[in-house]
Amino acid sequence: MEPLILGIESTCDETGVALVRGRTLLADVTATSMEEHARYGGIIPEIASRAHLEAIEPTLNEALERAGVSLADVDAIAVAAGPGLIGSLTVGVCAAKALALALDKPLYGVNHVLGHLAVDELVDGEIPPGSIGLIVSGGHTNLLHLKDMARDVVELGGTLDDAAGEAFDKVGRLLGLPYPGGPHVDRLAREGDKQAIRFPRGLSTGKHVAAHPYDFSFSGLKTAVARHIEALEAKGQELPVQDICAGFSEAVNEVLVDKAFAAVKAFDAPALIVGGGFSANSRLRELLKAGQEKYGVEVRFPPLKYCTDNGAQIAALGSILARAGVEPSPADFAPDSSLPLSQASLLP
Ligand code: KG4
Ligand code: ZN
Repeated sequence: MEPLILGIESTCDETGVALVRGRTLLADVTATSMEEHARYGGIIPEIASRAHLEAIEPTLNEALERAGVSLADVDAIAVAAGPGLIGSLTVGVCAAKALALALDKPLYGVNHVLGHLAVDELVDGEIPPGSIGLIVSGGHTNLLHLKDMARDVVELGGTLDDAAGEAFDKVGRLLGLPYPGGPHVDRLAREGDKQAIRFPRGLSTGKHVAAHPYDFSFSGLKTAVARHIEALEAKGQELPVQDICAGFSEAVNEVLVDKAFAAVKAFDAPALIVGGGFSANSRLRELLKAGQEKYGVEVRFPPLKYCTDNGAQIAALGSILARAGVEPSPADFAPDSSLPLSQASLLP
């Protein structure tokens, strides 16, 4: 039988615990402190850490119960070791270390961001070696060459300023939408005219794209949206909120999709794997589907429930590492809030 992996995720405001056997998800339970942060308009790290402390044990117990297994059945433990909020990470890592020690099981401190791609294996099967990975979340926007998920991941590029989700959240705030703004901006964009307002596309023309083929920049775009809103307000005009959202969403998504398919072509990749909270974005999904037809390459993105932070993504990555025979992490590893994306796990 394939190894049973327990995955623990506590990088931000979600406490996630999941059990995966091979590529089969047995249980995935998530507790969230999102509502406690909403009134502050952003994540308050101290509140998030305390919520993890309260949630970790009940979430673990519920996951074990739903999977119909006991702790003694677990073959290895995977925990998100970074990137993330250091206080939040520490709660999950301490819990995982205690379990690994008590059960005498191997422990993998894994990369949370790569987990956003690994989770796709639970739905669509093995990630073909050599695929391109597109990570789009609140904290990351990156293109990766996934030569081998367990041992050889190359970071091709990433955002020089804001992440895609972050840019959506900031525009949401400019428009007075509730936090996090991303899903609201997405919803309003669907009701607007994409062509009504043309906002700038960062690092996508001339020498900029030549120097930064796989990098992104969204802060200029965000400023352009802010200026547009200010100009209309100064004239006392009503804001065409839907059109602003549609024009902004188009500028972000066009660049994401163009650069992702450029990487697919350049590396002759068999598939494009998309992950992270922003991969829930409806326009991104539309454009990716169109690109799949146009470029004749398989595009995979996980179902919506696996796009935001969850334990399944950590267990899935742990399972990839365990099956590949990668050495577990040393018992004294520390969480790393800026763990590089080329590192799937913390090695001895
Ligand atoms: O991956 P994730 O759950 O957390 C991080 O690790 O960052 O991503 C959360 C981000 C937030 O910025 C949220 O606004 C954004 O993903 N998001 C969306 C949508 N759903 C979530 N942004 C745009 N459109 C959406 N439908
Ligand atoms: Zn995440």
